Amino acid sequence: MAASADNILIRAQKLTRIYSTGSNEVVGIRDIDLEIAAGEMVVMKGNSGSGKSTLLGLLGGLDKPTRGSLTVSGQDLQIASAVELNHYRRNIVGMVFQTFNLLPTLNVLENVCLPALMAGSPREKTRDRALEYLEWLKLTERLSHYPAQLSGGEMQRTAIARALINDPSLILADEPTGNLDSRNGQVVFELLSELNRRYGRTVVVATHSLLADNYATVQICLKDGGISEKSVCDI
Ligand SMILES: Nc1ncnc2c1ncn2[C@@H]1O[C@H](COP(=O)(O)OP(=O)(O)O)[C@@H](O)[C@H]1O
Ligand SMILES: [Mg+2]
Repeated sequence: MAASADNILIRAQKLTRIYSTGSNEVVGIRDIDLEIAAGEMVVMKGNSGSGKSTLLGLLGGLDKPTRGSLTVSGQDLQIASAVELNHYRRNIVGMVFQTFNLLPTLNVLENVCLPALMAGSPREKTRDRALEYLEWLKLTERLSHYPAQLSGGEMQRTAIARALINDPSLILADEPTGNLDSRNGQVVFELLSELNRRYGRTVVVATHSLLADNYATVQICLKDGGISEKSVCDI
């Protein structure tokens, strides 16, 4: 999909995140300019330490830029108040991580419902929506299982349902297949791609996996905290 001025979902200008550790400064990302249109499936690659997680953390509103500007879905994340950031994290983005990050004491259905209940959605409506996503993700047989009783693929599919429960327009996934075998990895990329194509969600996924390439509408290569000249990484 071509990026035109009015359907830009993500706009970064000279986006920079420097980490201060004692007297040291470590570059997370530096001077990134980026425009992503709504409806893209962005596959981001780059060596370990190249800044992928830093950029996803900023896009997810988990962290603030040191310099530069970042606007997502009309929200300027650099100047957002705590209340605005909370709303953004809950309602605009859904995040999926390599380590799944499920709560061990909640079952599958409870894990998926939690972000919606925390955002104040009514219980019945939340449950119905969760059951719909869980059916799509082929987890209907696992509703009352706890994370420790699930396979890696099932845990990640639960995490995807949880990321979707508040109906975000942007899905961010940080190496979502890093702990999965290639068959389950393929399933995760297919699901993310289906979310993109069928449900119109914009997806940004950081990955080392070649399996993602077929699904990308945009490819980005990070190198040493910046966007490499080559859009396709040779890693
Ligand atoms: N919390 C942190 N404190 C200090 N340095 C960090 C922190 N997070 C990341 N970095 C550094 O920022 C750079 C980019 O890291 P990261 O975004 O995690 O890269 P990637 O996800 O591509 O592996 C690395 O040099 C890393 O060591
Ligand atoms: Mg990372």
